[in-house]
Amino acid sequence: MRAWIDGELLPDPTAPAVRISDHGFTVGDGVFEAVKVVDGLPFALERHLRRLARSAAGLGLPDLDQAAVRRGVAAVLGDGELALGRLRITVTGGPAPLGSGRGDAPPTLAVVADELAPAAATTRVATVPWPRNERGALAGLKTTSYAENVVALAEAQRRGATEAVFANLAGHLCEGTGSNVFYVVDGELRTPTLASGCLAGVTRGLVLEWYGGVEVDEPIEVVRGASEVFLVSTTRDVQGVSAWDDRELPAPGPVTTEAAAVWAKREPELLGL
Ligand SMILES: Cc1ncc(COP(=O)(O)O)c(C=O)c1O
Repeated sequence: MRAWIDGELLPDPTAPAVRISDHGFTVGDGVFEAVKVVDGLPFALERHLRRLARSAAGLGLPDLDQAAVRRGVAAVLGDGELALGRLRITVTGGPAPLGSGRGDAPPTLAVVADELAPAAATTRVATVPWPRNERGALAGLKTTSYAENVVALAEAQRRGATEAVFANLAGHLCEGTGSNVFYVVDGELRTPTLASGCLAGVTRGLVLEWYGGVEVDEPIEVVRGASEVFLVSTTRDVQGVSAWDDRELPAPGPVTTEAAAVWAKREPELLGL
């Protein structure tokens, strides 16, 4: 692992580096990105930086210093020896009083690079009873307030799955804790719209552009009639779903296989600093 924080590459990436009063640490006041690294190069960095800026603006954090983020990315990638990895870029409210109010200090900016294990070809998902709030202040933002995802994922893992899927307050299919969902009904590939409260996943956007699919919001029960389902995310790419709760599914199905092949073919186009 290599870690860079506020302009400095840490000699020991496991050493303490963030202040105890950092608002990201005390109240989860921060935003982040996870970026895939292939052969030492970041994937779709521009798209991730745009989303990071949107998330920061949504939280009311100061404008992102893009040049500083790029310096951090270059520093942790070093000589490009990471064959498959993940960058984690985090921006927080910085040191602040202990309550919810922000302080006057500048934001904290950290970039970390670490290895990433290749994703399994297929996975099992479990729906969880807690809704995503598509009307909340944080809807659609990639914030460090991820404890709801931690609780949901632990519940899914308890039930033998590797991802938890949420409906939203309207009862519509929304997203996973760290992934977007695609499903095939009547031969049509569908995924929830951004109005569902799901994150505008970089992988989701590229699958829609490169392969296609219809954006639609439907009750989560629609998936019971799906002929196939797949998850998409930075760490999973296109991953077939072999079981949804207690229903087994063919995985990877034909549409999933095609989408994954298009993904593998086009991924190199967006590798670079
Ligand atoms: C809540 C949530 N939804 C969807 C995704 C997928 O987004 P991306 O494809 O940009 O990784 C993520 C990524 O971690 C996420 O945290």
